[in-house]
Amino acid sequence: MSRVLIVGSEGQIGSQLSVELSKTIDFDKLFLSDIKDKSKTDFKYLKVDALSYDDLKKNILDNDISEVYHLAAILSAKGEKVPKKTWNLNMNSLFNILNLAKEKIIKKVFWPSSIAVFGDSSSKNETPQFTDKEPITVYGISKLAGENWCKYYNEAYDTDVRSLRFPGVISYDTPPGGGTTDYAVDIFHSFKSGKNYNCFLNEDTTLPMIYIDDAINAIIKLMKTSKDNLRIKSSYNISGFSMSPKMIADELKNLNKEFDVEYNSDFRQAIADSWPNSIMDNYAREDWDWKENFDFKKTVNEMIHKLNIK
Ligand SMILES: NC(=O)c1ccc[n+]([C@@H]2O[C@H](COP(=O)([O-])OP(=O)(O)OC[C@H]3O[C@@H](n4cnc5c(N)ncnc54)[C@H](O)[C@@H]3O)[C@@H](O)[C@H]2O)c1
Repeated sequence: MSRVLIVGSEGQIGSQLSVELSKTIDFDKLFLSDIKDKSKTDFKYLKVDALSYDDLKKNILDNDISEVYHLAAILSAKGEKVPKKTWNLNMNSLFNILNLAKEKIIKKVFWPSSIAVFGDSSSKNETPQFTDKEPITVYGISKLAGENWCKYYNEAYDTDVRSLRFPGVISYDTPPGGGTTDYAVDIFHSFKSGKNYNCFLNEDTTLPMIYIDDAINAIIKLMKTSKDNLRIKSSYNISGFSMSPKMIADELKNLNKEFDVEYNSDFRQAIADSWPNSIMDNYAREDWDWKENFDFKKTVNEMIHKLNIK
């Protein structure tokens, strides 16, 4: 059985991925790591800066790790405030992991990309796997470069690096870390605390999304698939459903007529406008049987249930 390390384990995706992986991996074979001092979990935890190649290598060798899920990054909205830092973290931490795979110290890698690789020149509806890509954020630029480097390492050095282009991830547990789709989680928390919500996107801004359980299942399914089946060596398009802020607001208003949402768009509107409205993920469906379990309605109901909203 593989010995597994999650890098960036304390974030929105890592905190759910660790729980799901722990169901099939022995306790002493699963390792979490992040730049934070401590983990919120009781799993084995290593404080490691993903920017330190030496630290990563030492911890990976010491613990005989063969499989890495590399999630550390600065996301789209936060990244615009600190462009150089975002480029540095997103690219150089990826190079550290890719080089450990090239040296065959790690056997298998998962690294997420994002719909932020698309831009104004990409087709907007049912955006295909292959289309023009001119990302407008430093985050999107780093993800597009990262995808191409993954493809390059897979082809030039025969590494096994797998990737998904995630849309906005909706989750109930750990709050999102500074992306353009964070509103889709924040709005539920406002509703729960009895406060109206001030939305930073316009009401009809439609974006592709995925519920956290589907995102985690997709990662696990992709990693289990035989490498020979994977035609995409960069990153697979994937999506659960598409929705707008108004769609969630309407659902929540059905629960409480007093709830109100104001729309005051900020710099994140331009980012959202450059992204697809919906995604065509046929390669994922054909190559490794991707299928979402959660559509819009089921996601809203699950968030209401998980957040114990009355
Ligand atoms: N959440 C989404 O909607 C979404 C969508 C598309 C892609 N992604 C990608 O998925 C991955 C995980 O996203 P997330 O939402 O969990 O992000 P997040 O911001 O919630 O978590 C990132 C984690 O990385 C850690 N980190 C930061 N710098 C580090 C360093 N130098 N060394 C080690 N750890 C460090 C942070 O402490 C944090 O716990 C990212 O690559 C992100 O780009 C996320």
